[in-house]
Amino acid sequence: MAMQNVVLIGFAGSGKSTVGRALSERLGWRFVDTDQQIEAEQCTTISEIFKLQGEAAFRALESEMIERTLADNGQVISTGGGAVLAERDRICMKTRGFVIALTASLETIISRVSLDENRPLVQGNVEEKVKALMQRRKHAYDFADLTIDTTGLTVKEIVDRVEQAL
Ligand code: S3P
Repeated sequence: MAMQNVVLIGFAGSGKSTVGRALSERLGWRFVDTDQQIEAEQCTTISEIFKLQGEAAFRALESEMIERTLADNGQVISTGGGAVLAERDRICMKTRGFVIALTASLETIISRVSLDENRPLVQGNVEEKVKALMQRRKHAYDFADLTIDTTGLTVKEIVDRVEQAL
C-alpha cells in the first residue's frame, strides 16, 4: 500500500501523542501533533483558546490544521480527541491517511487526563466529565481503518501492531 500518512485518533488520554512519537521514530517519518502545532502557531495554549475564543473557534483552527497537515505526505499525525467531530475532517483523514483509533480503559483515561490542566473539556469533576464526553462520543472513532485496544500493551507493542498493519 502506498502510505501517505498515519493518523492517530481517539479519546483524550488514549495515548495518541506518546504512540505517535514512538511510531514516527520507528518509521522514520515526521511527527506532527495537531494540538501542539496549533499552540505553536497561535502562541498560546489550547486552554487559553477555549477560554478566550470558545470551543467553536478552536474547532475551526483544528479543522484548518488537519486539512493543511494532511496535504503533506509521510507523516505520523496525532490529533485531538475532538478532531473527528467534523465529517469533512474525517473524510480528509481517510483519503489522505491510514486512520488508527487508540482506546484505553476509563480508569486509564481518567488517571491520565487528571494530571493535565491543558484539557479544558475535562476540568473540574474529571470522572463525570470524562464519562459524559465518552458517552457522547461513543461511536465517534468507529470510522478508523484499525482500532487498537492499548490495555496492557507497552508503547513498543502498540507500535509493533501498527507496523504489522501498514
Ligand atoms: C479535545 C481533546 C484535546 C484537545 C482539546 C479538545 C476534545 O486533545 O484537542 O482540549 O475535544 O476531546 P487530546 O485528545 O490530546 O487531549
